[in-house]
Amino acid sequence: MKIENICCIGAGYVGGPTMAVIAQKCPDIKVTVVDINSDRIAAWNDKNLKNLPVFEPGLDNIVGSCRDKNLFFTTEVDKAIDEAHMIFISVNTPTKTYGKGKGMAADLKYIELCARQIAKVATDDKIVVEKSTLPVRTASAIKSILDNTGSGVKFQILSNPEFLAEGTAIEDLLHPDRVLIGGDTSTKEGNNAMKALVEIYSNWVSQERILTTNVWSSELSKLTANAFLAQRVSSINAMSVICEKTGADVNEVAKAIGMDSRIGPKFLKSSVGFGGSCFQKDILNLVYIAKSYGLNEVADYWEQVIKMNDYQKNRFSDNIVSTLYNTVAGKKIAFFGWAFKKDTNDTRESPAIQVAKNLLNEQAYVEVFDPKVKSEQVFKDINNNNSEDLLKVKKNPYQVADKAHAIAILTEWDEFMDYDWQKIYDSMLKPAFVFDGRGILDTNKLENIGFVCYKIGMG
Ligand code: UDX
Ligand code: UDX
Repeated sequence: MKIENICCIGAGYVGGPTMAVIAQKCPDIKVTVVDINSDRIAAWNDKNLKNLPVFEPGLDNIVGSCRDKNLFFTTEVDKAIDEAHMIFISVNTPTKTYGKGKGMAADLKYIELCARQIAKVATDDKIVVEKSTLPVRTASAIKSILDNTGSGVKFQILSNPEFLAEGTAIEDLLHPDRVLIGGDTSTKEGNNAMKALVEIYSNWVSQERILTTNVWSSELSKLTANAFLAQRVSSINAMSVICEKTGADVNEVAKAIGMDSRIGPKFLKSSVGFGGSCFQKDILNLVYIAKSYGLNEVADYWEQVIKMNDYQKNRFSDNIVSTLYNTVAGKKIAFFGWAFKKDTNDTRESPAIQVAKNLLNEQAYVEVFDPKVKSEQVFKDINNNNSEDLLKVKKNPYQVADKAHAIAILTEWDEFMDYDWQKIYDSMLKPAFVFDGRGILDTNKLENIGFVCYKIGMG
């Protein structure tokens, strides 16, 4: 089956960039991205490419070169589904906030809505591709909904998890370590569907990097990859506390172990904690799956990765309070960074949120500067009217630092390193403290200026 028309439901951080790259690499395929959120679609269609709803380095150029040629953004969901040969589902799957599995299981209500909508609209055979991260065996639920439409239309379900990391999404999509495609390997139709998707990726990814597996392996591999990555961050963060107590330097430890080829150098940067829409959600999901099979030891093992992360966030704010003479009430703490990592405007599960909540709870004034996050988003993340007068967001880092007792680095934006730190020091109250939660600043230089510095993982 030659695919000429693709639809993607969900124009978010995953759907938008992924479809933009497919459109660029496959000029003969018409790619339509749909979303129920009309503001989001309007932003994707904004003439000014700086206003796209997702900030990713390089994304604006790709969208600019393909949009309205073979890449379209629209709210006309039914029409796009009807026309497509292949439909990607890329809607969000947040942690459930109600009922059974509350706080742990993935909420699949949007996925089910998509399946029902596809079932309602489709008049010819379709390949449905799960892009969203899903619990194992979701594909069978989708298939059951689709197969019971009674319309005679045939569906093949594939799992094609996304491994892009925000901030490097375009690079990751253009040069993936691997593309994973899971499908029904036991039937000819299943294999043909997988082949159709392999062909799309083959336009720019070499064959040996495209893996095909059964659908359950594919679904579970995504959860496993995120769990392993998050576990590395929690492991190095656990060592950061020991380093601080013993006088070791966590960066030296990370370098020393990373040179062991069995361990490898990546993902060993100690931080104020991991954030992002995936790690916590996917581990909770894994924990829920393990518990539902009665595998309590397995569940406890993975849950510890999240507990360590919570500990790291809380101990960062506790340290600010205790260093500032056990009280931050009425004191201004300047936040440099709010996004969960650099080069993105995404704040989901950002460690900055928990750290801010803890400090606001202690009656501190928190003033935030982030190069890409909008002020509405910061207030939405804090979502507590009592804190409104204690929380401010400004567009200039020097204003945020002015008359502050301390600066806390919450995101590793490169530009923070290049600021005029002497000017910042001069405008602050003394002693002027810096708490570097990302380990990016040259503390020797800052100490020479007069700052009192804390750097994560440094004794
Ligand atoms: C993705 C994946 O899909 C998720 O499973 C993964 O674990 C994290 O990343 P992401 O693209 O980051 O989600 O989510 P988001 O930016 O929230 O975008 C999802 C979009 O789907 C939203 O714009 C939302 O409006 C849209 N949506 C949701 C629909 O169009 N229809 C629905 O029924 C539900
Ligand atoms: C992650 C996975 O990397 C990606 O493959 C998957 O598709 C989605 O989830 P993402 O959450 O976008 O991607 O970013 P990632 O680079 O993995 O960072 C996650 C969090 O871990 C960030 O808060 C980051 O600052 C933190 N981190 C990462 C560290 O604290 N130290 C590190 O060494 C690496």
